[in-house]
Amino acid sequence: MLTDILHRVVSNPTIYDTVQLVVGVSPHLDRRLAANLGETPARPTILDVGGGTGLPPSLWPAGATYVCMDIDPVKLAGFRRKDRPGVALRGDATHLPVRTGSVDVVVCKNVTHHLRDAQVPPLFQESARVLKPGGRMLFIDAVRAPERWRSRALWRFDRGAHPRLVATLRQSMAARFDIAHWEVFAYYHRYVFGVGVPL
Ligand SMILES: C[S@@+](CC[C@H](N)C(=O)[O-])C[C@H]1O[C@@H](n2cnc3c(N)ncnc32)[C@H](O)[C@@H]1O
Repeated sequence: MLTDILHRVVSNPTIYDTVQLVVGVSPHLDRRLAANLGETPARPTILDVGGGTGLPPSLWPAGATYVCMDIDPVKLAGFRRKDRPGVALRGDATHLPVRTGSVDVVVCKNVTHHLRDAQVPPLFQESARVLKPGGRMLFIDAVRAPERWRSRALWRFDRGAHPRLVATLRQSMAARFDIAHWEVFAYYHRYVFGVGVPL
């Protein structure tokens, strides 16, 4: 009951953004993304898969084209309301509506715990497909850490019903990517951050 109410409240894009900002999680995760873009071409295309209401333009190099792709039109409307540079694109992480070999960086932050087991391999497969040669995927998500009381408590109230173990996520990513960087860190939740180059 309480969980249902919380889920409904947090599904509002403005409230979602405010919660992320107030608890300070977003900057903590976003600086890892910005620091790991690697060598990008002069005007890179950045595809944010399950981008929600979008990431701040300050993360990307000048001239980047940012595409915020999400399955939820309410989240995309939240992105458009911010009036930031970038394109809102409706689509499914398991069937990206994007041309093969057309993207410099795929970002996927805090999405896999919303996906069912059968949806995770296609997410990585599709991300590898849309990347240009030399492109990379930046993957970040909170994980299941049953030994941590904080993680147990947080997952009780999260809308995403599929938290996974660190090893499970690494295995899924490694099926399609050469993993150039892998990091596990804690900030309220425990997180993994992976940087991958398509195999
Ligand atoms: C916790 S939010 C994260 C949003 C954003 N990446 C961030 O870090 O703020 C998870 C997002 O994944 C999106 N999502 C869930 N399933 C999806 C799917 N199959 N394809 C695309 N987006 C999906 C949700 O609509 C939601 O916006």
